[in-house]
Amino acid sequence: MTSSPSDPSRHVSSRRDFLRVSTAASGVLLASPLAARSHAGGNGKLRIGLVGCGGRGTGAALNALRTHPENVLVAMGDAFTDHLENKLSYLQKDQRCGAQVQVDHAHRFVGFDAYKKVIDSADVVLLCATPHFRPRHLAYAVDKGKHIFAEKPCATDGPGIRSVAETVEKARKKKLNLVAGLCYRYHEPKVETMQRVHDGAIGDIVTVQATYHASQLWHRGKKPDWSEMEYQIRNWLYFNWLSGDGITEQHIHSLDKVAWVLNDFPTAVTASGGRSQRTQEKFGNIYDHFSTVYEFKGGQKAFCSWRQWDGSARDVSDFAYGTRGMAALQGHWIKAGGGDWKFPRGQKHRGMYDEEHVALFDAIRGKRPVINNGDYLWKSTLMAIMGRMSAYTGKRLTWEQAFNSKENLAPETYAWGDAPECKVAIPGVTEFV
Ligand SMILES: NC(=O)c1ccc[n+]([C@@H]2O[C@H](COP(=O)([O-])OP(=O)(O)OC[C@H]3O[C@@H](n4cnc5c(N)ncnc54)[C@H](O)[C@@H]3O)[C@@H](O)[C@H]2O)c1
Repeated sequence: MTSSPSDPSRHVSSRRDFLRVSTAASGVLLASPLAARSHAGGNGKLRIGLVGCGGRGTGAALNALRTHPENVLVAMGDAFTDHLENKLSYLQKDQRCGAQVQVDHAHRFVGFDAYKKVIDSADVVLLCATPHFRPRHLAYAVDKGKHIFAEKPCATDGPGIRSVAETVEKARKKKLNLVAGLCYRYHEPKVETMQRVHDGAIGDIVTVQATYHASQLWHRGKKPDWSEMEYQIRNWLYFNWLSGDGITEQHIHSLDKVAWVLNDFPTAVTASGGRSQRTQEKFGNIYDHFSTVYEFKGGQKAFCSWRQWDGSARDVSDFAYGTRGMAALQGHWIKAGGGDWKFPRGQKHRGMYDEEHVALFDAIRGKRPVINNGDYLWKSTLMAIMGRMSAYTGKRLTWEQAFNSKENLAPETYAWGDAPECKVAIPGVTEFV
């Protein structure tokens, strides 16, 4: 996109000006995150801070740096020194972006409060820590007026969801940019498939089926000198209070596609789940499979299945069935009588993780309207959490019940000692709170 005479980015010369321009931009929510995109670029340095120096945080930092060579990573924070130093050294060695990594010793922060110092040091923050902490990280970043990239999921319980819903509104009022890591929303083949479905290619949607059948993920072991809190946070995937269980941590990608294609969030859910392969204590208290039936106010139902089993068939796919045809949301094709379509194989498109950052920084630089993906971030997270709550308790649950849930999974204090007791839920016995 070439800049027009009215493009405010033509007239800004400093980082402070950039931030002023972006807060003056209009607060329009786009139907498609790619709808008004422009090429990466612009000028003027923006200081980036990374909270949560793990695999995705490092990836997000590289996305932010390589799509915008003028951006500089200036601060990093993590719960653990070894995670931070390992990833810092990895980023410094990156052939393309290493020179943009300028995190001096005074800006490497460790511990539960590291996020505050990172956020205080940056113009734009990448919130990529363990999901449980996202509500407080988001709230602080918005209070401090920072632009945000926030990974999914954004909470693990009802109080966390309500906090994020409030923060998202505050961000909207302050006209801050908030791009969510529900990355498929920035994947061009999916955007085009969804657009065609929304334009009526398969008629009215009657039902959606979503599958995320994967194998097991990492386990980082246990060391005798680790407290229980350190052990759990290092192995956060397996503890419901930290990850929200696999339905929230991973299956959220499928559930978000269901909500996206239906342009709606469910009114109720009935779910089942359990532990059939990962039964050992080291796997904490999460399940290894869930199946959910979501109900929508238009009468549609979504049938969704997630599992993490080794030695079993793998499948990540979703299909929307309509009155005139069907669409493969992950496969990017449509069958509808004479109206068949497929996203052209080999058609070049920028990867979705880079697209997220092109959109974010273009919006910050005033080249496109302010982005706030916060609504679908917290609503898709709640969709996952309500599925988990239904499976854990054996009850059919409504959206309102889940939103208003009083279950608070947070520990009493954040300190390197004891951690919450983590019991495996038993349907019919575990109470809905
Ligand atoms: N969008 C995607 O495709 C995608 C892919 C992978 C992960 N993710 C999400 O990104 C997030 C991080 O996942 P990951 O794979 O990088 O995990 P990871 O374990 O590699 O990284 C998480 C990091 O956060 C740190 N951390 C934990 N508590 C913290 C705290 N209170 N303050 C600061 N740092 C803290 C951990 O020490 C760790 O270094 C998760 O929410 C995950 O669901 C998204």
